[in-house]
Amino acid sequence: MIEERGTKLDIEVEEEPTKESQVFYNPKMILNRDISVSALKVYSEDQKVDLKVLDALGGTGVRGIRYLREVPGIEKVVINDSKPDAFENIKKNLELNSLKTKVEVTSRDANLLMSERRKGFHYIDLDPFGSPARFIDSTARSLKHDSFIGITATDLAALCGTYRKTCRRKYGSWVQNLSYHHEVGIRVLIKSVFDALAVHNKVFDPKLCYAEKHYYRIMGEVRETKKGVNRSLKNIGFLSFCSKCGYRKFSGEKDYEERICPNCEQDTGKIGPLWTGKIGRKDFIHRVKDDLDEKGFNEASELADMLEKEVDIKKPFYDTHNIGKITGQPAVRRDKLIENIRDKGYNAEKTHFCPTGIKTSAPIEDILSISKEMNRKK
Ligand SMILES: C[S@@+](CC[C@H](N)C(=O)[O-])C[C@H]1O[C@@H](n2cnc3c(N)ncnc32)[C@H](O)[C@@H]1O
Repeated sequence: MIEERGTKLDIEVEEEPTKESQVFYNPKMILNRDISVSALKVYSEDQKVDLKVLDALGGTGVRGIRYLREVPGIEKVVINDSKPDAFENIKKNLELNSLKTKVEVTSRDANLLMSERRKGFHYIDLDPFGSPARFIDSTARSLKHDSFIGITATDLAALCGTYRKTCRRKYGSWVQNLSYHHEVGIRVLIKSVFDALAVHNKVFDPKLCYAEKHYYRIMGEVRETKKGVNRSLKNIGFLSFCSKCGYRKFSGEKDYEERICPNCEQDTGKIGPLWTGKIGRKDFIHRVKDDLDEKGFNEASELADMLEKEVDIKKPFYDTHNIGKITGQPAVRRDKLIENIRDKGYNAEKTHFCPTGIKTSAPIEDILSISKEMNRKK
């Protein structure tokens, strides 16, 4: 038996859990679950009704059980897993935690369950092996008018452009592996969720999204409103980029397409479509961070702190190593670069996407010249 944040689980922890494990439990996802619990708590605080929650791909049921135990304002949690061993384990784990009410355990194909329970849930959690793509349409059907979602993806090689055709097949975008590929990947994932919901006249508003270790997690609000979807179409577009000088620019789907880099006159590349808006909301992330702080969940709280600081800067991040390659000089120290960019009057922050990366609205010419100047003064 093990315990995660006070939830008891009748499970052996494997070094590297796989699809074939009898029942899947991954201790490396505790941070993901900590943030999800706090985010659902913050969402629930703003709702007038108690929430119906679905943990659609439950495994041991640890997420669903944690939502039930740790989030106030829940009417009911349905925990589902199509695998018979997982179904039995979820029931055992509920017993271990003496949870008898406000919970239902099912063993169905998640797509069938969600399609049958049309508009049945205020919150759906999708935490699959690999890609969530095949579950997103039925998730859209099963969400209520006003609702919230948490979606994990672990197929990063497809999302960030290593397997280009897989990305096109599963997510509807053409991408290329760039030095800021995790930001591209998460924006492609958000775009595909936005599109799948838009078919059902539902608009997705990302509240807290991040890349961590081997996965991406996107969490946000969903509202049924045709006008809202139409208004938010401005957040879908393409990214033009220059491989020679590092220039990058988002443009709308119907905007003029920049084919020549305005900085160095090289031909530009283009990827997308992807989400070009903010990938979270500062006030929401701040409240999640406060909740994590209160609980003393330091790793998750530090991540939320970075997300809060960087979230208003939309332009994809710059890796100082990549800047070094472009200038042909050693990479400069990230903290110092941020300081020098700020001294020129631009905003600049560290990014959670990369330990040597920065987010800034400064134009590439300035970033390059600041970096060269720093090398001269060394
Ligand atoms: C990554 S695990 C879930 C981990 C769990 N959410 C957690 O936080 O520990 C994915 C689970 O989805 C289940 N699963 C896979 N395909 C499914 C489907 N079509 N319908 C329902 N469950 C499915 C698997 O049996 C597996 O237990």
